[in-house]
Amino acid sequence: MPAVHVLNGPNLNLLGTREPDVYGRATLDDIKARLAEICAARGLDLVFRQSNHEGDLVDWIQEAGKVGAAVILNAGAFTHTSIALHDAIKGSGATVVEVHLSNVHARENFRRHSFIAPVARGVIAGFGADSYVLALDALFDREERKT
Ligand code: DQA
Repeated sequence: MPAVHVLNGPNLNLLGTREPDVYGRATLDDIKARLAEICAARGLDLVFRQSNHEGDLVDWIQEAGKVGAAVILNAGAFTHTSIALHDAIKGSGATVVEVHLSNVHARENFRRHSFIAPVARGVIAGFGADSYVLALDALFDREERKT
């Protein structure tokens, strides 16, 4: 695992002030700082990005696939709509862990369907900012066990 790419989709730049009762008070910068610390302790490079544009996420997934980097992906609302992201994961061969701050299965019906899950290595949802940390742990475990 040469690096971990953490990719964040639309509206996640608003974390901290966006529906804090649903998403918590941590900002995206807070999450980045937490993951950076964990990755540094493991001597692993972290790429951390956010975009409100679907095409950026497609490009970044392809990029990660090309360099063999694992991806932690919170695609935000694109999770529930984007065949392009599904195809990018499938086509690039990137190992992806789908994450969500909220428990998408305990919310509106439209959040229950994911175009990412069928092509993801696993899914973690509902633990707030800890969802990202749990995803990182899962990737480390997987790397150590080579499963
Ligand atoms: C989210 C859940 C999505 O349904 C929503 O559109 C988001 C955030 C989450 O992290 O809980 O933007 O991905």
